[in-house]
Amino acid sequence: THPLRIALAGLGTVGAGVIRLLDANGGLIAARAGRAIEVVAVSARSRGKDRGIDLSAYAWEDDMTALAKRPDVDVVVELVGGSDGPALTLARQALGGGKALVTANKAMIAHHGMELAALAEQHGLALKFEAAVAGGIPVIKGLGEGAAANRIERLYGILNGTCNYILTQMESTGADFGGVLKAAQDLGYAEADPTFDVEGVDAAHKLAILAALAFGTAVDFGAVDISGISRIRAADIAQADALGHVIRLVGQAEMQTVKGEHRLFQRVQPVLVAKDHPLAAVDGPTNAVVAEGNFVGRLLFQGRGAGDGPTASAVVADLIDIARGNAVPAFSLPVAMLEEAPAADPGNR
Ligand code: NDP
Ligand code: HSE
Repeated sequence: THPLRIALAGLGTVGAGVIRLLDANGGLIAARAGRAIEVVAVSARSRGKDRGIDLSAYAWEDDMTALAKRPDVDVVVELVGGSDGPALTLARQALGGGKALVTANKAMIAHHGMELAALAEQHGLALKFEAAVAGGIPVIKGLGEGAAANRIERLYGILNGTCNYILTQMESTGADFGGVLKAAQDLGYAEADPTFDVEGVDAAHKLAILAALAFGTAVDFGAVDISGISRIRAADIAQADALGHVIRLVGQAEMQTVKGEHRLFQRVQPVLVAKDHPLAAVDGPTNAVVAEGNFVGRLLFQGRGAGDGPTASAVVADLIDIARGNAVPAFSLPVAMLEEAPAADPGNR
């Protein structure tokens, strides 16, 4: 069997993590995938930058869209970021040109996921984005495959590692917001534009993707009601503590019936969480997702939601799926079914 040949666009926190992971665990990955996963070509903004990884075995493309045109590549892995711009151009060119696409880019999937999923379906290619939601937690696979037999009744959780790190550091050390945000950036948790983290936009990107998977609807990022944590002060945390609560940035989605119509409600906001609730114990850059299914009951997915190792783990899990020939649709259902209005039955399709 020939190796699965991949091209990596983006060699920052996540891209470099993927190379380190493939170097460290290549043997066991090849055994589990049934064939080797081989990096063929890479691209980033500056070629000369010291990334602490050896790139000498890979072809370098100055223009990352050239990766999508290489005949020696089976899968393009997009780890650049940004909802539009070069990442989207690359994604369209990859899927349009016969390459499968793996991405960690929640902003792009939240805004253009339906278009990209349709393109993937049209060409019979895989589109995978496990790393885009909750870093290392296999929640896309968990909901889209593991819980696929269920009607999901409720979905909520902590979806941004940077905010959770900031809130829990402020809680435990009394440090101020700005100082802790800087630490989260230095640790590689924050987005290139950290206002996406602290204003709740990144969590909303992830919630919109998860809600689409869980409730069988099209991704509707524009409908998420969003508030972030930038105005939370140490005094708010102290007051919550005195009342037996902690503050967490929580995303929630549920199908509600309003005047006989079924509508998906999606919201990201800082909430008071009772200290004995499982979300109160979620610390640092950890994420947690709770999903309630009508047969499985309550599921809790928890683990590292940001950082190089956990995110690389999710990216490579997608590559292993592709190497094995696992052909699960991007959103569990064909795009045409997702784009219909929510069914009269509020249950999930
Ligand atoms: P970084 O900023 O660390 O890395 C981005 C990479 O993309 C860099 O290598 C950069 O090149 C390259 N790049 C940026 N713009 C361009 C461009 N115009 N042309 C070519 N290359 C470009 O980001 P992360 O690794 O943190 O994030 C990557 C993606 O993964 C994003 O979509 C992010 O949302 C997502 N993600 C990140 C997580 C995390 O914990 N960090 C977790 C889950 C998802 P250069 O290095 O030369 O500057
Ligand atoms: N900036 C994101 C976070 C990275 O802090 O959760 C993981 O998606």
